[in-house]
Amino acid sequence: MPPLPLTFPASFVWGASTAAYQIEGAAEEDGKGPSVWDSFVRREGAVRDGHTGDVACDHYHRFPQDVALMRRLGLDAYRFSLSWPRVLPTGEGAVEPRGLDFYDRLVDALLAAGVDPTPTLFHWDLPQALEDGGGWMARETAYRFGEYAAVVGARLGDRVKRWITLNEPFVHMSFGYAFGVHAPGRALMLDALPTAHHQLLGHGLATAALRATVPDAQVLIANNCTPVRLRQDARGEADRAAAAAYDALHNRLFNDPVLTGRYPDLSAYGAADPSWGGLVHEGDLETIAAPLDGLGVNYYNPTWITAPASPDSGLPFDMVEPEEAYPRTTFDWPVVPDGLTDLLVGLASRYGAALPPVWITENGCAQPAGVDDRARIDYLAGHVGAVAQAMERGVDVRGYFTWSLLDNFEWAEGYHQRFGLVEVDFATQRRTPRASFEWYRELIAAQKARR
Ligand code: BGC
Repeated sequence: MPPLPLTFPASFVWGASTAAYQIEGAAEEDGKGPSVWDSFVRREGAVRDGHTGDVACDHYHRFPQDVALMRRLGLDAYRFSLSWPRVLPTGEGAVEPRGLDFYDRLVDALLAAGVDPTPTLFHWDLPQALEDGGGWMARETAYRFGEYAAVVGARLGDRVKRWITLNEPFVHMSFGYAFGVHAPGRALMLDALPTAHHQLLGHGLATAALRATVPDAQVLIANNCTPVRLRQDARGEADRAAAAAYDALHNRLFNDPVLTGRYPDLSAYGAADPSWGGLVHEGDLETIAAPLDGLGVNYYNPTWITAPASPDSGLPFDMVEPEEAYPRTTFDWPVVPDGLTDLLVGLASRYGAALPPVWITENGCAQPAGVDDRARIDYLAGHVGAVAQAMERGVDVRGYFTWSLLDNFEWAEGYHQRFGLVEVDFATQRRTPRASFEWYRELIAAQKARR
C-alpha cells in the first residue's frame, strides 16, 4: 500500500462527491418532474445496455445508510447535488414541498453525522419542461436557475453554508449540446456555444440569489479543468496554436469570465465578436464575475492536442493519445497525477490574485468491480500527493473531494464504470466498502489526529 501522503493544514477539508441523477433513483416519486436525463435514457442506444437512473443507488430511500458510511469514513464534507425537478417539477413556479423536504432531511442527517453538506445546484439534470423551452440555449433558463437558487437557499441556508452553483458547464455544453452523447442529446457542434454563456449567466444569478438568501454563504463553481499537453513529436507552431485553442474552449471559456470578467479569444471557433452576435448583453459579465469564495476544480486527466490532421475537421485541434504508457482506468483514461500539480500551479500563475482558494471538487477513477481496488488506492494516493505538491508550490487548496462515494449511474456508460469507494450491487442494493474506502478512512483519521 502506498505511504499516506504528507501533512495537510488542520483546516483542510476531506470529502467525497456524488450527483442526484447518478444515485438517487426515485425518478417519479413524491411529485418529482422529469429531467432531461429521464428522457434521454429512454432513447434507443443513448446509454450502454439501456441502463437508466430510475433506481440507481436508491439513495432517495437509503440515504441514512449512506450517511452512516460517510460517518464511518470520517468525511468532513459531502458534495451532492440537488435535483432541480424534484424541487420545482417544471423548473419554475410551484415548489414541490416533498422534494425540498428530502434535502432538508439529508442535510440534517449529515449535520448529525458531523459531515458538512456541500450541495451543487445543477449537475446536468435540467427539468424537461425547461429543455422544451430551449434548455440552456435559451437565456430564460439562466433566470429560472437564479430563482431556483433562491428557493433552496431560503430553505437550507440556515444550515448549509458552502454551495456550488454548476457542475462542469464545459462537459454539459460539449457532451449534452455539441456532441449529443449526454442529455439533452443535441448535436449542435459549435452552435452549442450559447449554452456556455447562459450557464455562466445562471451561475452569476444563482450566486447573487445565494448571497441574498444565505447568511455567510460561501459560493463556488465546479469547473472541469485539464492541463493541455503536446506530444514530443508534435510541437510545431500549429500544434501550439491548436493547444491554445483547446485550452480556450475547455478551461478558459469557463474560468476567465468567472475570475476576470472577460471571455478568452474564441476567434478559432468563429466567435471573434466579443458580444457573440448579441448574445452577451451589457452587464452580463459583471453578473458572471461576482466574487467567489472558491474555485472548484474537477480533474481526471490531461488532454493531448495536435494541430488538426485534416482542414475539414471543423475544429481547430485534434485530440490524440499520449506517447507515454500511463496506467489506464477501465474507462481507458490515463492516470497522470502530476497533471493535477501542473493544472493547479498553472491556474495560480494564470490568474494570480484573481484566483480564489481552490477546492478539488472531483477526482477519482473507474476500476474493475470487486473490493480489492489497489489501483484506485494508487490513483488516489498519487493525486492527493499531487495536491500536496501544488500546495508546497504556493497554491491555496482548501479541500479534496473524491469522485465518488458510491458506484453509480455513470451517464452514457450506465452501470459499467465503477468509481466508488463503496461497491454497490445494483441487484440487491448491498453496499460494500472497498480497500480504497479503508485507505481513505485511514488517511482522514491520520490527518485529523494531527489537528
Ligand atoms: C462528472 C461526474 C462523472 C465523472 C466521471 C465528471 O465529469 O461530474 O458526474 O461521473 O466525471 O465520468
